[in-house]
Amino acid sequence: MKNIDSFTHVRGESLFVDDLMIRQDALFGLCFDSPKAHGKIISIDYSKAEALEGVERIFTYKDVLGENQIGGIIPDEPLWAVDEVHFWGQPIAFIVAETEVIAKKAKALIKIDIEELPIITTAKEAKEKGSFINAPRSFNLGNTNDSFKNCKYVFEGETFSNGQEHLYLETQGCYVVPQENGSIKITSSTQGPTQVQKTAAKVLGIPMHKIEVDVIRLGGGFGGKEDQATPWACMAAVAVQHLNKPVKYMLNRHDDLRMTGKRHPYSSSFKIGLSKELRIEAFEAEFLQNSGAAADLSPAIAERTLFHATNSYFIKNVKTTVYSCKTNLPPNTAFRGFGGPQGMFVIESAIAVAANKIGVDKSKIQEANLLDENDQFPYGQIATEVQAKKAWFSAKEKFEFEKLEKKVKSFNKKNKLYKKGISLMPIAFGISFTNTPMNHARALIHIYQDGSVGVSTGAVEMGQSVNTKMLQVAQDILGISADKVKLETTNTTRVANTSPSAASSTADLNGKAVEMACNSLIERLTNVASKMVSSDRNKITYKDDFIFVSEKKSTISWESLIAQAMLERVALSENAHYATPIIHFDKSKEKGHPFAYHVYGTAITTVTLDCLRGTYEIDSVKIVHDFGKSMNIGIDIGQVEGALAQGIGWMTLEEISYNSDGKLLSNALSTYKVPDIFSVPKTIETIPLETDGHDLAIKKSKAVGEPPLMYGIGVYFAIQQAVKEFNPNYKLKFDAPFTPEKVLIGLYENQ
Ligand code: MTE
Ligand code: HPA
Ligand code: MOS
Repeated sequence: MKNIDSFTHVRGESLFVDDLMIRQDALFGLCFDSPKAHGKIISIDYSKAEALEGVERIFTYKDVLGENQIGGIIPDEPLWAVDEVHFWGQPIAFIVAETEVIAKKAKALIKIDIEELPIITTAKEAKEKGSFINAPRSFNLGNTNDSFKNCKYVFEGETFSNGQEHLYLETQGCYVVPQENGSIKITSSTQGPTQVQKTAAKVLGIPMHKIEVDVIRLGGGFGGKEDQATPWACMAAVAVQHLNKPVKYMLNRHDDLRMTGKRHPYSSSFKIGLSKELRIEAFEAEFLQNSGAAADLSPAIAERTLFHATNSYFIKNVKTTVYSCKTNLPPNTAFRGFGGPQGMFVIESAIAVAANKIGVDKSKIQEANLLDENDQFPYGQIATEVQAKKAWFSAKEKFEFEKLEKKVKSFNKKNKLYKKGISLMPIAFGISFTNTPMNHARALIHIYQDGSVGVSTGAVEMGQSVNTKMLQVAQDILGISADKVKLETTNTTRVANTSPSAASSTADLNGKAVEMACNSLIERLTNVASKMVSSDRNKITYKDDFIFVSEKKSTISWESLIAQAMLERVALSENAHYATPIIHFDKSKEKGHPFAYHVYGTAITTVTLDCLRGTYEIDSVKIVHDFGKSMNIGIDIGQVEGALAQGIGWMTLEEISYNSDGKLLSNALSTYKVPDIFSVPKTIETIPLETDGHDLAIKKSKAVGEPPLMYGIGVYFAIQQAVKEFNPNYKLKFDAPFTPEKVLIGLYENQ
């Protein structure tokens, strides 16, 4: 089944916030943000801006009737700055005008005087100065100190991975309309409608039931709209509260790039100890997360770094610590993988160092340490239904790894100025919000009296095709054709208290709720059906828009069943609540069973390096991926390819750059390169791993959104191998992205 949005997407008919018909009296908002990264606000002169014709009003923290506070995990982020600014781009005021153009003109007329204070832009500097968001966290298993003493090999090193811009095609935005009696309706491009509702209620000082948040769909979120869609909606909501007129605010690309947080840069160090059989006996890592100027989701992201610090390897002695370092950058936020990729890059780097120093292929060490059934993760969860080895060995076998490796070697022998590199990249990614209480969802299903069905859930469609999957679940249980089922917008009035659509768990959580609601409806309908077809309940099934009795089609259609159920006054609506069973985590011990299951896979990457220019091409990425039993292989392979491209971008091209004043230099698409058709692999092959799936996955179809991003890490190591091939004096460096500039330097260093 195709993505149900594909037809309207291709025709440009799909609706996004910016496509909404707006009221005639609607006004337009624009944020005035800090032109300095850190300082005391001495004075702000709004008078010229306010005097401009067409400017309705300028809002500041003084207009907040509730709390000027939007911090989700830690209350450390004002909606609008009060007397200090902590990052370049921090919101200070909100101009509301008759048109966007007028608002922009007004913005240029605001005069601000800031007394600058010292700034910190790197995590390392923050750590030195003791500037943190919260206390560090550590996950420990066994005893690394004792273990290192007995290791044949011990190596240490440092790594850096840079941030990443989400670059959702649709920028952040919202449209807010006043309703009766002080209620308001917010249409937002958010992954977290409830987060927007809850925060807006707090800022406005009104109860949550006065705020309705509606989400049609997003033009991409990738984590960037899990928390950071909230401030714009709150600003517009404050304006609506005061003006009683609709306010729309769509950020332009420059403003979005400058004001929003990104993937967290990490500066990390590691120590790895191995036995002579290449078993990793001990591993230590210290992660310095560049959190930016406020917590946002940083503590949760830091936690996930620890959860994935050993990737898909079993290591008996582990000590990992993460510091969320407070700097003067925009608060960094969720981004596909949620700290996991940053963790995995470090263990892969450590293995690369070990392989290089010992003089073996990296893959030998990887292979010798893959997770097995009943191995323990450092956070206490016992690994079950493990697919690490199966994915690894089937990738090697199905894609003929040895042959590929030989080809690379013979190519390198023959060619002087072109070198190839090859790498294997295994992944193991935990599925569930690491914060256990967030793992729940609801669905509300209406069967209308003509037999058509409306499905509402807490899931936000952002291109990952979750709506298609929800439709498949409903259609399958009700036994009706796809055109009878409609996916409604995500709305807090229909489905309340939702977790954001994130953690790759949206389809699992909301799908299970849809499943439960549909099963309850079928229970009730079967009472009616059994009379209509004069049969036992247990012989009745639903298929192809008809009632089936003992697998045989009856004459009773779905429509006539529903008409009869109406006459018999049977409830045709159902609400269901799902909460993931089994999972738990005790933060005081840092142990538990936080994940419903893990997703596994292995990618084989081959690259060709132009050693004259430092440029490279990715020849192929060949993947064996654990989809469980995919309920929609087209969509799932789309997710693999999209995530892979994003992972490759993070590892090779995308270079976020702030100057020492804390100003974003990579502030446009001319200075920030994302992967395009030329930079993605020439071939991508994805083979589903044959498994039974997992009962906690919706229809045994495992979560797919984030895990494949981490296959992109393999590209780094394939390039590195090719560099080493050309320049034996190259000293391994782990400084992502591995841009052509860095490659070129590596090719000719120490010669
Ligand atoms: N795919 C598209 N097309 N657009 C997106 O914004 N977000 C990713 C992933 N795939 C995203 C995407 C991220 S960060 C997550 S967590 C998951 O989708 C969220 O959706 P899911 O839980 O339904 O997988
Ligand atoms: N993943 C993604 N988003 C989240 C998580 C998580 O584990 N926890 C809170 N938000
Ligand atoms: Mo995804 S980073 O969990 O939105």
